Amino acid sequence: MLRSVSRPRLLRDFKGNAANFFLNRFGYASSTSRGGRLEGKVALITGGASGLGRAAAYEFIQEGAKVIIADINTQVGPQTALDLGPQANFVYCDVTSEAQVAEAVDFAVAHHGQLDIMYNNAGIPGPSIPPSIADLNLDEFDRVMQINVRGTIAGIKHAARIMVPAKSGSILCTASISGLMGGLGPHPYTVSKFAIPGIVKSAASELCRHGVRINCISPFVVPTPLVMDQMAVFYPGAGREWITEMVNGLGELNGAKCEEVDVARAAVFLASNDAKYVTGHNLVVDGGFTCFKQLRFPIPDQI
Ligand SMILES: NC(=O)c1ccc[n+]([C@@H]2O[C@H](COP(=O)([O-])OP(=O)(O)OC[C@H]3O[C@@H](n4cnc5c(N)ncnc54)[C@H](O)[C@@H]3O)[C@@H](O)[C@H]2O)c1
Repeated sequence: MLRSVSRPRLLRDFKGNAANFFLNRFGYASSTSRGGRLEGKVALITGGASGLGRAAAYEFIQEGAKVIIADINTQVGPQTALDLGPQANFVYCDVTSEAQVAEAVDFAVAHHGQLDIMYNNAGIPGPSIPPSIADLNLDEFDRVMQINVRGTIAGIKHAARIMVPAKSGSILCTASISGLMGGLGPHPYTVSKFAIPGIVKSAASELCRHGVRINCISPFVVPTPLVMDQMAVFYPGAGREWITEMVNGLGELNGAKCEEVDVARAAVFLASNDAKYVTGHNLVVDGGFTCFKQLRFPIPDQI
């Protein structure tokens, strides 16, 4: 089922003031397009109501795109579209339903006449307290795979249906650092995210012939609602500020933290003509975290 939301001409209040919200969150005060690298493009973003998807929607609009947010969150999703302004629409879409993914794609084409960018970003972490592999609930595993993997494949399939005949388009998928190393997330999440670069390479092998590019992004940990909710289970007594600071301190790159905007700008690059010869790639946005491990030599004066 599709639900589109009409937008007001001006930014509307969101928890007080949408402009302040975006200013605080992303460092910008307005979501009005200033033109740019995605001028005239139409983008569909699954999981675009919140977190990394919402940040990408904002950056895409800044670069001149029109954006359709496809999400199951019928409270936050329509409000995000309102806040983003007239270049944004919301459609209800559960990526586990192929029919709903197909409808969302068809909505983009019916509404804007084209689909240039498909960002398969919706994802869940699965149970917050990861059980031992010996106790793994396979129904939970299936659920994570349904959303993170099958949902991504459905998005690729239906984007290709439009992009292959058009002989152009850019498909993006959200992977994770959990898809590069074991032990960074629960088993089902890790398995699901390892699958994404594989899907991207497999699809790239065919889509290349049709002038369609496909890439994925592997972000480091960002304190989005997905991460904050998980951390709140691990640290029930802790306040949001403490959790945010703790998460922001997990990286390796001195003087920087991974923010939504870092991932969103990687997405802008891959979606745009700047990346016109980049396909099948996994763009890791992790401040070097998965590049190295250090040998734990004993400290000389302790031996
Ligand atoms: N935040 C991080 O640290 C991080 C790091 C690496 C990768 N990721 C990945 O980034 C993506 C976005 O996550 P986020 O951190 O922005 O989390 P988030 O929870 O803020 O956003 C995820 C969005 O996906 C939507 N969603 C969930 N199930 C859906 C479904 N079945 N159909 C459609 N929409 C659905 C949610 O409603 C939500 O709006 C996920 O794929 C996640 O695995 C996140």
